[in-house]
Amino acid sequence: MLGVCYYPEHWPEDWWAEDARRMREVGISFVRIAEFAWSRIEPEPGRFDWGWLDRAIDTLGAAGLKVVMCTPTATPPKWLVDRHPDILPVDEHGRVRGFGSRRHTSFSSRTWLRESARITEEVARRYGSHDAVAGWQTDNEFGCHDTVLSYGPEDVAAFRDWLRHRYQTPGVLNEAWGSVFWSMEVAGFGEIDAPVAAVTETNPAARLDYWRFASDQVAAYNRMQVGIIRQHSPGRFVTHNFMGFFQDFDHWPLGEDLDIASWDSYPLGALEKIAADDAERVRWARTSHPDLAPFNHDLYRAVGRGRWWVMEQQPGPVNWADWNPVPKPGMVRLWSWEALAHGAEVVSYFRWRQAPFAQEQMHAGLNRPDRKLSPGGAEATQVGEELARTGALPATAKAPVALVFDYETAWFHRIQPQGQDFRYAELAFRWYGAIRRLGLDVDMVRPGASLAGYRAVVVPSLAHVSEAAAQAFAASDAALLFGPRSGAKTRDFRIPDGLPPGALRHLLPLQVIQVASLRPGLTEPVTGGGLSGTVQRWREWLETDLPALARFADGTPALVGDKGRFYLAGWPDEALLHGVVADLLGRVAGLPLTELPDEVRLRRRGDLTFAFNYGDTEWTAPVPDTGRYLLGGPVVAPQGVACWRTA
Ligand code: GAL
Repeated sequence: MLGVCYYPEHWPEDWWAEDARRMREVGISFVRIAEFAWSRIEPEPGRFDWGWLDRAIDTLGAAGLKVVMCTPTATPPKWLVDRHPDILPVDEHGRVRGFGSRRHTSFSSRTWLRESARITEEVARRYGSHDAVAGWQTDNEFGCHDTVLSYGPEDVAAFRDWLRHRYQTPGVLNEAWGSVFWSMEVAGFGEIDAPVAAVTETNPAARLDYWRFASDQVAAYNRMQVGIIRQHSPGRFVTHNFMGFFQDFDHWPLGEDLDIASWDSYPLGALEKIAADDAERVRWARTSHPDLAPFNHDLYRAVGRGRWWVMEQQPGPVNWADWNPVPKPGMVRLWSWEALAHGAEVVSYFRWRQAPFAQEQMHAGLNRPDRKLSPGGAEATQVGEELARTGALPATAKAPVALVFDYETAWFHRIQPQGQDFRYAELAFRWYGAIRRLGLDVDMVRPGASLAGYRAVVVPSLAHVSEAAAQAFAASDAALLFGPRSGAKTRDFRIPDGLPPGALRHLLPLQVIQVASLRPGLTEPVTGGGLSGTVQRWREWLETDLPALARFADGTPALVGDKGRFYLAGWPDEALLHGVVADLLGRVAGLPLTELPDEVRLRRRGDLTFAFNYGDTEWTAPVPDTGRYLLGGPVVAPQGVACWRTA
C-alpha cells in the first residue's frame, strides 16, 4: 500500500538497482515515473530514446516493484516550444507565459492537443503491455500554477465555439448574460472576447461561462489521453494526481473518466496556502490542521467513486510555501495512516530522494541527497513494517453524514464575492471540521447525486441549485442543513425569480430579502434554541413562516426550518457552527456524537477505528481496553496513531 515518486533520469544509472532494492526495504510496491521526462524520451523531434527508460522500468520490475507510468505532458521540451510557440498560454494581461518551468501550455491550442496525443500514443504504445506497468497517471496536476484559464487567440476562438454550442444564437446569449447592462450586447459570437482586461468588472455570467468552458477543456484533454492509454494498455488503471483545495476546474466530471482518483497531499505546505489566520498557522505549523488532509481524502474518495490514492505524500519540509517547517516527529507516519484510514489504496511519497539541483532542491525526499534515509524515510519504513503486520485493510463503508461539495459554487463566489473573505472552500472546510470534531465520518457528494442512506446532509453553500440537486434533496429523508447563499443564483448568474434560495424554496419556504457582508471585526450575535455565537463575514435577512430556532439581535431569524430541513442565514463562527451542527447530527439525525478535542480525529475503515492525535498531550480513547488494538493502545501519544477493531 506504499508507493514513491522516482526520477531515474535525475540519477546515475548505476544507482537504480540499489534504489529499487532499498525501496523494497521501505515497504514500497509502486513507483511513479516519467511525468517530467519528455526531453529525455524525445530529445529531438521524432527521435526517441527509449533505452534508458526501458532499463529503468526493467530494473524496478526486476526488484518486484510495480510502475505507475505517466504521460510527460506537464513539461513540453524547449524544441517543441520553439517550433510551436502557439502552444503557450496567455495571462489575463495578454502576456505569453513562456518556457522556463512547467505547464507552459494552453488546453485550447490545437497544436498542443496534437502533440499531446502524439507523445501519449508513443509512450502508451511502448509501455502499455509491459509486465511491470500496473497503471497510468495522465499528465501532472492539471491546473497547477494557475494554468486552467488562458486568454490567447485560440482560447478565445474555442470559447466562442463553446458559446455557439451552448446558446445557438447571440440573442439567447445576450438574454442569458443580461448583456443589455452597460451596452454589452453582441450581434455575433465572433464579437465575444475573453472576459478579462476590461476597465472594470466584466460580466459575471460571461466569467462563469469562461470558467465552465475552461473546465470542459481540461476534462476533454484528460479524456483524450485516457482514451489513447486504454487503447494501448488494456487492463491497467488510469489515474490523475489532483491537488488539495483546488477548484479551478470541476473535478467531478473529470473523475468519471478515471479508474482511480489520486491527489498530492502536502499538509504543511497547504496550511500556508489555505485561508487560515496567523494564529492557526502558528498553532498547526508542524502538524498541519487536523482536517486539512482529511477533507481532501474524503473529497477524492468521492471523485474516484471509492477508489483513490495519495500520489504524492509530503515526506518532510517542502520548498514552495512562504515558510517551510519540518514536520514534528511522527507526522509523516500519522499522515500516511490517516490517508489509509480514509480509504486510500496506496500512499505514495514525493519523492524518493531530495534533488541537490534545480528548483526543488530544498524539498525533502525519503532520502537525503547523500543517499541516506531522511527522518521522513524512517517514518515511511515504520508504516511499511506496520502494514506488513496489519495486513490488508477492510473496505471503507458509507459515512453517516454527507457534505455536498460543488466546484461551480466556488466560481460563483469568486466571481462576485460581495465580501472579500467569502471563500467557499474555506466555508466547506469549516463545516467539514465541525462534523469531524463530533467524531463522525463524512462522505463528500456531488450535487445531484443520490443522498440515499445518509442520516444527515450538510450543504455549506450551493450557489445554483440545479434541477437534479433539488430533486436529490427532495427525495432525501436525511436531516438537511443549508448554508448561506444557497440557491442565491440561477444557472446564468441571475438572482432567481422570487428571490433566493431559488429552487430550494420548495423545500424551505423562505425568501432572502437582503444580504450583507461583514468586514473583519464586525459580527452579529445569534441566540436561541440553546445556540449561541455570532455570524461573521456574511449575514442574510429571511422572510418566512418557518419556525426560527435562533435569531439575530434584531429579532430576525438566523436558523430556520422544520421537518428535518434547515437554513442558516450567515457565516457562523466556530461556537455557532459547532452548536448548529451538533444539534442537527445529534438531536435531529439521532447520530451518536463523540466530542473530540481540537487536536484529535477519528476515522473508521470497515470494522477498524483509527484515532489521530495532532496535539501535544496524550489523549485517551473512549473505548474499553479490549486489547484489540492493531496500532497503539487506548492512550494515544502526541502525534500518535491508534487503531482498534470494533466488536
Ligand atoms: C507537486 C508536484 C510535484 C512537485 C511537488 C513538490 O505539486 O506535482 O511535481 O513539484 O509538488 O511539493
